[in-house]
Amino acid sequence: MFNSSRINEFSNIPTPFYYYDMEILQNTLEIVKRESSKYGYHIHYAVKANANPKIMTKIQSYGFGADCVSGNEIKRSLESGYPPNKIVYAGVGKSDQEIQTALDSDIFCFNCESIPEMELINEMAEKANKIAKIAIRINPNVNANTHHYITTGVEENKFGISRWEFDSVLEGLASYKNIELIGLHFHIGSQITDLSVFKGLCLRINEIKQWFSDRQIFVDHINVGGGYGVDYKHPDQNPIPDFVTFFGIFNEFLNLEANQELHFELGRSMVAQCGSLISKVLYVKNGVKTKFAILDAGMTELLRPALYRAYHKIENLSSNGETENYDVVGPICESSDCFGKLVSLPATKRNDLIAIRTAGAYGEAMASRYNLRDIAPSIFSNELN
Ligand code: LLP
Repeated sequence: MFNSSRINEFSNIPTPFYYYDMEILQNTLEIVKRESSKYGYHIHYAVKANANPKIMTKIQSYGFGADCVSGNEIKRSLESGYPPNKIVYAGVGKSDQEIQTALDSDIFCFNCESIPEMELINEMAEKANKIAKIAIRINPNVNANTHHYITTGVEENKFGISRWEFDSVLEGLASYKNIELIGLHFHIGSQITDLSVFKGLCLRINEIKQWFSDRQIFVDHINVGGGYGVDYKHPDQNPIPDFVTFFGIFNEFLNLEANQELHFELGRSMVAQCGSLISKVLYVKNGVKTKFAILDAGMTELLRPALYRAYHKIENLSSNGETENYDVVGPICESSDCFGKLVSLPATKRNDLIAIRTAGAYGEAMASRYNLRDIAPSIFSNELN
C-alpha cells in the first residue's frame, strides 16, 4: 500500500505515469549483489525488462553488466555506463547492422541462436579483423511451468539450438576462424516461481556440459539466463524475491569446473516490484451486470494483462469506501484493454487515483503509441519532494 503522503504528491502530477520507488530498487539490487557475490556469480541486467536510463544507470552503479537483445539496447547500455566487456547480446534475429554495432563495441559475448547466425558473425568478424566471442544458446528442453507465451526452453521453439544440432555446430565451429566459443547459454522462460525448475535446469546443464567435455570442449562460462519470477499478488508482503534460495540452488546443483564462471541475465526479478502505473478514473459506467471503472491508462501503458491475461494488483489510492466489484478497463479501442475483471475496490468514482502494481518490468518497456497516445512519463521517488 502506498502511504497517504505519496497520494498527496501524486495528486499534482498529470496521469498516467510510471512511478518508481527507488528505495525498493536499491534494496533489491543490494540483495542481488550480496547474494551473487557470495559465489562470485556475474549478473547481467536484462535491459528488455526496463530500459529507462535512470533505472539502467542505477543498476549499473552496482557493477552489474547488461544483457541486450538489440543494437539499440547495446547503445543504451553503453550510454548508461555499462562497460562493453560486461555486455552480452542474444536474439534469434540479429540484423547485420546490429551485429556490426556489437563487433564495433567489442562486447563480452554474442549468445548465438542458430548455425546461420554463427556463419554470419564469423564472416563479419573476419571483415572487421576481429575474433568474436560467442556462447551457444542451447535449448535444454526443460519446461519452465510458466505462461506458454513466455516459455522458451522446450524443444519446439524458435529459440536456441537443440541437441540434435550439436554435431553440426561443432563441425561449423571447427571451420569458423573468426569466432571463439567461450560459453554455453541457457534461458528457459520467464516468471518462473517454482524454484525446482531451476534445479532441473542445473541437472540438465550438467549432462550437456558432460557431452561437450567428452568431446574435449571446455568453455570459460555458463550463462543460465534469467526467468526468476516475482509475487504479483502480494507486492507489499514480498517486494524482493528470495535470492538467497535462488542463487543457493545453482551453487548446490550446478557442477562448475575450476575457474568456470557462472553468469545470469536477470530482468523482472530486479525491477518489477519497484514500478507502478499510476492512473486516474475517468468514468464509472454501469453495465448490465457489472460496473466499469474506466481509467486514463490502458494497454498502451501496460500491455501484459491484454497480451498474457497477466494479473497485476490494482489499488484505489483515493477511497476508503465499502468495497464493490469493478471491471477495470482502459480507454483503448480493444476489448482486451482490460486490467482486471470483478476487481474488488473501495467505492470508486471519477478522479480517484489508481495504482497498478508490479509494473516495473515489461511495463514502460512494452509501451506503444497505439491510438496515437502519448508515451507516459516516469516519476522517481527520490525526485519527489
Ligand atoms: N535472457 C533471455 C535470453 C531472455 O529471453 C529473457 C527474457 C531474459 C534473459 C530475462 O528474463 P526475466 O529475468 O525478465 O524473466 N514480456 C514478457 C516477458 C518476456 C521475457 C523475454 N525474455 C512479460 O511481460 O511477462
